[in-house]
Formats: sequence, C-alpha cells, structure tokens
Amino acid sequence: MKHTVKTIQKMKDEKQPITMLTAYDFPTAKKVNDAGIDMILVGDSCAMVVHGHPNTLTATMDMMVLHCGSVARACDRTMVIADMPFGSFQYGVEETMRNAARFVTEAKVDGVKFEATHNHIAKTKAVVEMGIAVVGHVGLHPQAVGALGGLKVQGKDIDTARKVVSEALALQEAGVFAIIFEAVPAKLAAYVTRKLRVPTISIGGGPGCSGQLLVTPDVLGMYDNFTPSFAKKYTDVGGLMLSTFKQYKEEVLTGVFPAEQHCYKMSDDVLLAIEKEFGKA
Ligand code: KIV
Repeated sequence: MKHTVKTIQKMKDEKQPITMLTAYDFPTAKKVNDAGIDMILVGDSCAMVVHGHPNTLTATMDMMVLHCGSVARACDRTMVIADMPFGSFQYGVEETMRNAARFVTEAKVDGVKFEATHNHIAKTKAVVEMGIAVVGHVGLHPQAVGALGGLKVQGKDIDTARKVVSEALALQEAGVFAIIFEAVPAKLAAYVTRKLRVPTISIGGGPGCSGQLLVTPDVLGMYDNFTPSFAKKYTDVGGLMLSTFKQYKEEVLTGVFPAEQHCYKMSDDVLLAIEKEFGKA
C-alpha cells in the first residue's frame, strides 16, 4: 500500500523512524521503492548530481516535471515528493499554485516541497488548500546560496536558530504535513521535533528528527563534486562503474566481447543468396 500523509504522520506518532532518499530516474526510484524506503524527494539537487551544474539554481520546472514523472512511475509504495525549483514559487500565489499543480497533474507525484521562508507562508497555505500534500524545508536553503555566501549550517546563533524555529512553527500552521531540516544543529532540530505535531525529516539535522533523508548519489558514491559533512557514502557504485567501463573497453579491444552468445544467428543459405545478389565482400 502506498504511503500517504496519514501513514507518515502515524509513523511519527508511533516513534517509527521515517526513511527518505532522493531519486531522479525510473530505475533508481524502483530500487528505492522496492527497498521499502518510505518517501522519495525528487530534489532540485538534480541540477547538480544529474546535470552537473555547480548549484541547484539552474533546475527548471520542465526539468523537474520530467524527472518527477520517471520517479512517480516507479513507485507503488514510496510516497513521491517533487521539489519546486528556484523561480517556481518566489513570484506570486497564483504562479506557485499553477506550478504545484503541474507536478500533480503532469508528473503524478504525491506532494510537493519548497524552500519556503516567512515570505512564502501564504503561498504554502494556498497550495495546501488546493488539496496538495506539502513538505516544508527549514535551515539551509540551497536556493539561497548566493545570499548566504555558501552552503553553510544554519541555527548555530540565536538569530538563525530563531528563524529555524519560527519558520517551522509557521509552516506547520500553514498546513504542511512534514518539514525537512537541512544542516541544522542536532540539538535545535530535536527541540523543534518535540515542539511540532508534524514529522521532521533530517538531512544534517541529527538523530532527534522523526526521519532521515540523504541524497542518493552521495549514498552510492556516485557524485564527488561536493559532499556535505552530514552525507554518508554506503558503497562505491562510482568505483564499480569506472572499473566496469574499463573492463568493457578492454574486452572490445581484445575481441573478448562480443562472444557467440551476444550474436544473432542466420542460416548460411541466406548469406550465400546475399553474396550472389550483391557480390562477395
Ligand atoms: O534538492 C534536494 O535534494 C533537497 C534536499 C537536500 C533537502 O532539497
């Protein structure tokens, strides 16, 4: 059965940790779904880890809708959340609503997430009131990399800690069903988790949150351009790919591949007839 806002809330209420990973394509999402991960975020990190850009600012609605559709088609159990890219929710309430609706109607995702600050509470509420499940996101907002001067931990001092707490409370009030805490001190994320009714999902927010999120290419060891200190590399798929591609090249160069079992057969009679018609080669 597919996860919904209700089953995710039940997990928090029953103190069962929620698992979430990012995915951007059908085959990866299928494995995440089959592994029993509760939620997928089709993050705008896609711009970096799939498209090779230096930050997330270049993700567009069209790019995100395409990736979200591939992921959603792979998931019969995992709840799929679309990340609204930079420029898709910053202008007006109506444009935000239209962009959120595109994810649901075109990509068929189960909900949307955006990096809403206090300035976006009315928009968050409007999307929730359309009937769309919304995830909030506090702490580090990678889309604000320019204003922040880098991807830095948020909430270590009183001003940024107050911003994290007050935004989380306002987002809950606006109707989000979960909130992602990115790069926030563990004590602060645990404090807000105790205060909130809705689940909190940590990506660099420590173990006191209701669940954990990681960027899948970090988990698989497939992206080394930028690795935040909170990421954990569980395996070296990147290394495996490299050695596999080298072996393939070697086998082509030495004639090991393709072998007989990789070739289609035909009768000699057909080849003889071809030679008769076109001449010998
Ligand atoms: O785009 C993304 O992957 C994200 C997470 C880092 C929260 O927004």
